[in-house]
Order: sequence, then C-alpha cells, then structure tokens
Amino acid sequence: MKSILDARAAAAMVVAAVIGSGRTLDSAFAEYLDDVRDPRDRAMVRAMAYGVIRFYPRLEQMLDQLLDRPMKRREIRLRSLLLAGLYQINGMNTPAHAAVDATVSATAAIGRPRARGLVNAVMRRYLRERETVDERAMQSQEGRWAHPGWLIGRLRSDWPSDWEDILEANNSHPPMWLRVNRSLIGPEEYLKLHAPPGARSGRFVPESLLLDSPLDVDVIAGFEKGLVSVQDGAAQLAAHLLDAREGSRVLDACAAPGGKTAHILELTPGITLHALESNRIRLSLIESNLNRLHLRCGILEGDAGQPAGWWDGEPYDRVLVDAPCTASGVIRRHPDIKLLRREADLRSAAEQQRRILDGLWPTLRPGGRMIYATCSVFMVENEAQISSFLERTPDARSVPLDGFGEWGRVTGSGRQILPGEAAMDGFYYACLTKLQ
Ligand SMILES: C[S@@+](CC[C@H](N)C(=O)[O-])C[C@H]1O[C@@H](n2cnc3c(N)ncnc32)[C@H](O)[C@@H]1O
Repeated sequence: MKSILDARAAAAMVVAAVIGSGRTLDSAFAEYLDDVRDPRDRAMVRAMAYGVIRFYPRLEQMLDQLLDRPMKRREIRLRSLLLAGLYQINGMNTPAHAAVDATVSATAAIGRPRARGLVNAVMRRYLRERETVDERAMQSQEGRWAHPGWLIGRLRSDWPSDWEDILEANNSHPPMWLRVNRSLIGPEEYLKLHAPPGARSGRFVPESLLLDSPLDVDVIAGFEKGLVSVQDGAAQLAAHLLDAREGSRVLDACAAPGGKTAHILELTPGITLHALESNRIRLSLIESNLNRLHLRCGILEGDAGQPAGWWDGEPYDRVLVDAPCTASGVIRRHPDIKLLRREADLRSAAEQQRRILDGLWPTLRPGGRMIYATCSVFMVENEAQISSFLERTPDARSVPLDGFGEWGRVTGSGRQILPGEAAMDGFYYACLTKLQ
C-alpha cells in the first residue's frame, strides 16, 4: 500500500504542529496520520513523533551544535525533520545510512527539496561527531533530563528526594491498563477467559488489569461490547475512594470524557449520578462512552464553580472533583505537555481549582464525602490547594485515605502517587467531609 505522505515527512509535520503552533500531539496525528496509508508507516510516524517530542529539549541541543548558523523561525518543518532524523539514529537505532537517506528524501515531501544538501550535511556531521555532540547535549540540565528548565526546577523544589525518579519516569513509555466492567463480568472471569496473554491484576483495584504491552482497542476482547475500558491504575482508585452506596446522590463535577463516571456506575447500581462538564464538545464524549458500556446517568452542561447555573438545590452525598490541572503526572503518556505548558499555567490551574472547590462545597450535604483528584504532581495544585481550602472552609475536614493497600504516599491531607510508582500515573487524591 503506497502512502500519500512519507513517514518521516509526516512525523516532521506532526512535530512542527506541536512546537510551531502549540497543537497537541493527538490533534496533529488526527490531521496527518490519515495521509499515511500503510499501518506500519503509521506506527513509525507515531513512534518518531512521540520520541522527538519526548526528547525535544535534548535533541534541540544536539541540532544546535550541528548547524553552522541558527535556522530561521519559519523553517519549523525543516527543523522538525532534522530532529526526527537525529532521533532515528539516537533513539530508534535506525541504521545510519538508512536514516540519512530517508531524511534527505523527505525534504521534498515537506516542501523543501532544496534543503537536501543541508539535511545531508547535518546528518553526516552527526554521524562523524556523534560522541561529542551527545556528550555536550547531556551537559545542561535540559539536555540531561530532556525537560524544560522551569519544570525541572519545580519538580526539584516540590520533590527534593524524588525529582530525578519523576523525570526519568516521565521519559519512559507508559504501560497500558484496562478496567473490567464489573456490571457485566467479574474481573477473574475476564482475566481467565478474555484477557490478552501476559495481563495481570493490578495491586490496588480488583478490576484493574495491567497489560504486558500496549494493544489497539480493536484487538482487545470484549472492548466493543463494553466488557473493558482503557484507564490507568491510578485513575481507577477514584471511584473506590468516593465510596458511593446504593441510593446515593452523586455528582461527578468535571466528568468528560467520562472514564470515572462510568467506573462509579459500574461499581454501584442504584445510585443517582449527575455528570457535569463545562466543555460542550467534551460533554458528548461522556454519552458515547457510557453507551458502549451499557450505562446511563444524568448529564449536565455547566461550570462547576457556579452551581446556580445547573444545580437543582438538592445536596449530593458524594462529589468527585477530578479537577482540570496541568497534567504534570501524565507526561509519560502525553510528552507534549513538556512543551505546551508554561510555568504561568500552574497559577491559572490552581486558581481554577480553588474556584471550583469553593463553588462545589455548598452542593455537598453535611456528612457527605468529596474526593478531590488531579493528575498532577505539583504541590500548589494538590497539598497546598487542599490545605488552603481547609483553612478557609470552617465546616470542612480532611479524611485519611485508608484502604486499597499501600498506594502512593501521605502528603498531609491527601496522598500522592508519583509517575511510574506501581506502574501508575502521577495522581493526587484528597478526601473531604462536611461537618454535620
Ligand atoms: C481531568 S479532566 C476529567 C477526566 C474525567 N473525570 C475522566 O475520568 O474521564 C477535567 C475535565 O474538567 C472539565 N472542566 C474544566 N473546567 C471545568 C469547570 N469549570 N466546570 C466543569 N468542568 C470543567 C474539562 O473540560 C475536563 O473535561
């Protein structure tokens, strides 16, 4: 099958869309992958683009040493192609001559046929000077850890004993987790009859399964029928910690795409659940996810920080606040976060979380339980956020998160899982209750 777009060129377009236009990897793949017809080429584009974005701060330092003069800003596709070329040799172990030839040939497909000479020269120079170039690139913190400096600095100050492990975990390939739909099948039965070879039960959540290697959902038995969903092990703790009971009135306040909404429904029949989401496009994902899993709940569009717009005034027994955050705990899954986030985003995320917490608090009934969650590792979004909430909210108390084994670490009011711990994503949880 002949592709319209060469794999290296497609990878360069994807990388350029991220670094030049601030797009996410997912949205760039959605635009360019259809032009690559051969599934093996598509897999290669993904591997190359993910790799370049994951190691971008290091590859940049390598490329800068190989250029006689800085490239113009508008040469973003050419720059991306060169980075992809370097990554093939440095990160994918592609034989040198094949990487050089393919990268040179791809200049035409990105609309820069006259750059053949430059690409050829840069690639060959890298082959000649590789040892020195690699060594020099590792001398700066950004190059050594392949993260932007501000992110390294933040992790260092928040996690003085763990920052290096976090950075390393962020650069690793994430494992794939499944969640068995307990409303349709028992986890043991699914594991015995349907699970892919090498799958094993997760340590903390009975219906979680950790796969040996990632698979396309099309080949996962029972996925279409709703027997399983893809969800990280850390995210699967949320529904258990919420501890909804039959008859509970439950609010999932930041619900799309509905992963945790579905899990709560799978675990607890006989609840009234409202899934709230402010983003209309994402809202529609909740319904399609629930349909696949044969589940139903009330779906509300609105701002969690302003209940007057959607709340009927009847208090909830349980509220899950899976807050919008910087997603710094899931960088290994979404390496583009390294490049798309700015340090200033931390403050705006924390302000938004504060507004949402304050807005939602009146919707919880006295004696009720609120679970606050983020997929971040930054203190300002997690422990500092919750301790400041407790200080300004006289009828709020934190509840220790016991149960489900020794996951994460106690950080004060909540518990933090760091990325890679027990193969899970970085997640923070805190549990709050309202005084009667
Ligand atoms: C971390 S994601 C939720 C993931 C979801 N709980 C799941 O498990 O599939 C946070 C969600 O909150 C939504 N959101 C952001 N601000 C919001 C607000 N003010 N009110 C309600 N939802 C909001 C975002 O659009 C996003 O879909």
